[in-house]
Amino acid sequence: MFHEALNEKCLEIYIDRVKNIDLIWVEQFLDIISERICSDSYFRLNDIGCNLGQFWKGLKKREWGKNINYFGYDCDDLYLEEAKKVFSEISDNLFKFDVTQEKPPECDITVCSATLEHLENLQPGLDNMLQSTKKLFLLRTFLGEETLCSKRMIEDAKVPYNVHQFSFRELFLALEKNGFSSKVIRDKYTDSMPVYLDDGMIRTIFIVAGSKVQ
Ligand SMILES: C[S@@+](CC[C@H](N)C(=O)[O-])C[C@H]1O[C@@H](n2cnc3c(N)ncnc32)[C@H](O)[C@@H]1O
Repeated sequence: MFHEALNEKCLEIYIDRVKNIDLIWVEQFLDIISERICSDSYFRLNDIGCNLGQFWKGLKKREWGKNINYFGYDCDDLYLEEAKKVFSEISDNLFKFDVTQEKPPECDITVCSATLEHLENLQPGLDNMLQSTKKLFLLRTFLGEETLCSKRMIEDAKVPYNVHQFSFRELFLALEKNGFSSKVIRDKYTDSMPVYLDDGMIRTIFIVAGSKVQ
């Protein structure tokens, strides 16, 4: 249960966001997908750490979105139940799933935003996503010269909250090992500028686009 590391205020923020705010990362991911993937073909897309369905909200507004078979995966039932209330049309496509425990079903495109950094470790979650992706892997996470991990205790939370930064090198090597070429893209929302979180923690978010070498 990811929510055990958060509190009720966080859930309220997620609900408000999904109802009222279109997130910039979603539009950026959709632009990248439309530049790289032929809009006339049908694709299966896995959204790992789908939360309340922000990505689906953006995808369904795109004309070419109708060609994408969307599947959302999240380890927390609480978020999936909220997502189903807002987007009943994808109720059957949302699954409770822990990416550190097993590989998702095979897909053409995987998107994963603001999730990898909260796992206990980079692996096996990253390999599970890469090994189930046939064409394009889009990741948004904290990256830097070295791998770092902090555990934060959020007010009223039951367990600590992991905030990793992974090294570019570690990430590139994992992509290469799994047959992907990778490109780092500046995150539009934060402009990939360092963000001061607290307790002296500074993190910089980037997007990595991994293309499976055919
Ligand atoms: C910070 S939220 C990010 C939500 C959304 N992707 C975004 O960027 O707006 C992280 C999400 O990842 C999910 N998550 C955390 N660990 C996971 C795991 N091991 N497997 C699948 N989902 C996980 C959480 O439940 C939560 O919904």
